[in-house]
Amino acid sequence: MTTRVIQGDFYTATGPTTVELHPQALICIDDQGMIERIVEQSATDYAQVVQHAQQADRLLKAADGQVILPGFVDLHVHAPQWPNAGLALDLPLEDWLQHYTFPLEAKYCDPAFASQVYPTLVKELLNNGTTTVLFFGTIHNQDNLILAQECLKQGLRSLIGRVAMDNPDQTPEYYRDHSSQAALADTEAFIRELTDLGRGEPLAPTPVITPRFVPSCTDETLAGLGQLARHYDLPIQSHLSESKWEHQYAIERFGKHDAEVLDQFGLLTDKAVMAHATQLTAADQQLVRDRSTALAHCPISNVYFGSGIMPVKTLLHDQIKVGLGTDISGGYSPSLYDNLRQAVMSSQIRQDGVGPESAGVDDSRISMKTAFYLATVGGGRSLHLPIGEIKPGFQADLQIVQERFVEPTDDSSNRLERLLYQTHRADVKRVIVNGVIVK
Ligand code: GUN
Ligand code: FE
Repeated sequence: MTTRVIQGDFYTATGPTTVELHPQALICIDDQGMIERIVEQSATDYAQVVQHAQQADRLLKAADGQVILPGFVDLHVHAPQWPNAGLALDLPLEDWLQHYTFPLEAKYCDPAFASQVYPTLVKELLNNGTTTVLFFGTIHNQDNLILAQECLKQGLRSLIGRVAMDNPDQTPEYYRDHSSQAALADTEAFIRELTDLGRGEPLAPTPVITPRFVPSCTDETLAGLGQLARHYDLPIQSHLSESKWEHQYAIERFGKHDAEVLDQFGLLTDKAVMAHATQLTAADQQLVRDRSTALAHCPISNVYFGSGIMPVKTLLHDQIKVGLGTDISGGYSPSLYDNLRQAVMSSQIRQDGVGPESAGVDDSRISMKTAFYLATVGGGRSLHLPIGEIKPGFQADLQIVQERFVEPTDDSSNRLERLLYQTHRADVKRVIVNGVIVK
């Protein structure tokens, strides 16, 4: 049964370089929060559908100069790092982790701290037009559950991982799992607790197996997490060849590349979403492709820690699933709009190179349409969820955005490009998740 109809101009990506504009279409949403029908302006019953919805007080009309987009999918957020967004990004990754990030995450052993931080984070993400988030939590189950409760309360679609990190060589005494058994037992407890918390909820958060990254984990923990992922058939998230340092670390400890290590432990699956992947060789890319693993491109974070720029265009050309992530707080911004723009800018730098001594890579530049695809369709496919597209059978996860300049001579491409370059938080006027207005 139709419970809401949203009327307006909407854009939805249909492929990595193709976006469709549907002028003044009607998005009909059923009582499960799914899009059941799109009624184009040319449909014979268009006026009738509008009238019925109006009479039942179920019509939401985007105002003049507003555009409807799919809600964005953020594939990589460290929830506990929100208070440090933008801090110490001049440090190398390994020092930033030890001196800023681990000390902050350790503070979440106090649930009061989580209760203070998480409501503001969830609100900020929604206010920026993000409707689904794949989160890293901390090693503390209680605080991860506070994050889950907040997502349910505010109506953010979420997937949440309890972080596992037990390697004493790479993690501090004050913030680590004290044995592999403890890391695995707490992960399993979190899967149970999160499942209980979400039972019966339309936005029940999905538990995610989360080895922090190869350096943080012992072999036993990596192997155990691979087994848990298989046993419970769960998504996996981690960092993959994020920087030269991480890539080199795997070679020194295992004599092989990061991707091969994750694969050896059963962690490179078609339900895995691996962040960054700036350092993959052609063989690593082939492995990722063979395993149907998704990659989260975090372009702002990569400027600081990535030692390079992900070859997005090549990966998409090779049919590898790619989405977008903010990587709070390695990325300073909670906005995927900022990351869309950085994705385009970074790809241009990859193509042009950085000066006479360092040539660029031909055919690296991506368009704003491709960046839009990453933040919507790419994210949905990476998570195997019916999100990121405005079409029947998909969740009604939407944002309504105010255009800053309405230029009547714009064709649909220019209008979208203008919109995606110019939109800021204040321009995101409405956010809808699962058919419910949450902003
Ligand atoms: N590698 C391991 N942990 C982290 C983290 O918290 N942020 C980033 N960017 N990379 C990581
Ligand atoms: Fe990260």
